[in-house]
Amino acid sequence: MKAKSALATTLLALVSVTACLVIARGQADENSAPIYVTKVPSGYRDWRLVSVANEEGNLHSFAIVLGNDVAIKAYREGTLPFPDGAIIVALHYKHVPSEENNKVFGDAQSFVPGSPTNIQLEVKDSNKYSATGGWGFGFFGTDGKPVAEAQMKSCAPCHAKSSTDFVFTHYAP
Ligand code: HEC
Repeated sequence: MKAKSALATTLLALVSVTACLVIARGQADENSAPIYVTKVPSGYRDWRLVSVANEEGNLHSFAIVLGNDVAIKAYREGTLPFPDGAIIVALHYKHVPSEENNKVFGDAQSFVPGSPTNIQLEVKDSNKYSATGGWGFGFFGTDGKPVAEAQMKSCAPCHAKSSTDFVFTHYAP
């Protein structure tokens, strides 16, 4: 009986040590490695407009930048840094001529968003994403799936060059 309970105590001690090690490892990973956003937030298509952008060069695309309520409020009130809970999403589309519009105008002047190419976003959570300036970055294909982590490493270092809390896009008046 005594031997049995000694064994039980030893086992229990082992289990506790292992549990502690697992927790400690989780925390170490969280502090050192950047964490990325792996899910597109629901309802983003109904968010309000921050601005638009047109990239030429290799991209040749339109960006439509939307913000959730927290982000829009911060933009309108000029609150910097952005508060936790702010989410800014950039919807990217091919930049294509509109034959339909051009016919009406009588001139080849109209360009509109074509098929979607990807969604990029930034989520502010100063604790969770402390390794990357308090912003979690996300990059999703048209299927809504996150891209490979290797493609995510450049986001934060480049966005850190912004003088407005990792965000480049200004609120369009
Ligand atoms: C070489 C620098 C650079 C890299 C790398 C980069 N971005 Fe950006 N990003 C910009 C610039 C400049 C803008 C504003 C112009 C525009 O909309 O294209 C921008 C705009 C954005 C926006 C709209 C909000 C804002 O900050 O203006 C989001 C969201 C975004 N990027 C996410 C990402 C994600 C996610 C990655 C990594 C996969 C990434 N970016 C990589 C430079 C960069």
